[in-house]
This record gives sequence, structure tokens and C-alpha cells, in this order.
Amino acid sequence: MTDEVAEIDWALLRERAVAMMERAYAPYSGYPVGAAALVDDGRVVGGCNVENAAYGVTLCAECGLVSDLVAGGGGRLVAFSCCNANGERLMPCGRCRQLLWEHGGPELLVDTAWAGIIPMSQVLPGAFGPDDLAVGTRAAIPETKESPRG
Ligand code: THU
Repeated sequence: MTDEVAEIDWALLRERAVAMMERAYAPYSGYPVGAAALVDDGRVVGGCNVENAAYGVTLCAECGLVSDLVAGGGGRLVAFSCCNANGERLMPCGRCRQLLWEHGGPELLVDTAWAGIIPMSQVLPGAFGPDDLAVGTRAAIPETKESPRG
């Protein structure tokens, strides 16, 4: 275990994830999820899944966690853990890996059951992120009569 991994209070993060899971609104799937993360300024942020009668509108636990991060003042996610109804660790879904990448980057440490504590660079290899936008953007098309909104 590296020093950085050892310095993190994983027991606290797992406990917070369970506390978040207990608040989940998951009447449709019956699959409550809780997530908790350490921020680089020492804050701990969290979230739970919030489902909807229109199933596709469901918010994953990580969405709530990222809202908590940004609304609470921002910062970079340093360590992340999420769990199911049994308190077992679970892997974030694909969309949530992208959310975590945006706010944690390749060094965010993720608590997994199958591979221990691993960095986001292994959870989402070859990720698309803010740096890609910086190099591949071209000027927006100016509005004309022919443009869609012109
Ligand atoms: N879910 C999450 O909250 N996070 C994930 O990373 C995986 C899936 C939720 C969404 C839905 O409410 C339930 O788990 C079943 O898919």
C-alpha cells in the first residue's frame, strides 16, 4: 500500500457511503446506492441514488456526490467509495466514471472489491476529459440566416 492510500481514512468513507445508501430513493430498482468521497481540502462529500417514475431520469449516487462537491465550494476528489444495500463496494457505472474523472482526474483513488484501491486511470483508461477539449476545438459557427437558429 502506498503512503497516499494508507493516509486516507477508508473506514470513514465506507461508513459515510453506507449512511448515504440508507437515504437512497430507489423504489423502482430496489437497489439503493451510497457514495462518499474525500476532497483535497479535507471535506467529505456524499450522495445517494434518486430514482424517478420516468426510469431514465434516475440520478446515480455519484451525481448527488458531484453536486455536493460543487455546491459546497468545489475542489478535487481525492478518494472515493460507494456501496450497495449490503454495504458492499460497487464499481461506478460508465457514466459516473466520466463524472468522477472530471472532478478527480487520473489520480482519484477508487475503493474496489475486485482490485483493492486503484486510481481512476485504471478505472477509466484512455478517458476523454477537459484536456481533449483544449486541443481539438474549432471556432463555433457564427450565426447566419442559414444556421439552425438563424
Ligand atoms: N446506480 C448508482 O447510483 N450508481 C452507479 O454507479 C450504478 C447504479 C443506481 C442507479 C439505479 O438507481 C440503481 O443503482 C440500479 O441501477
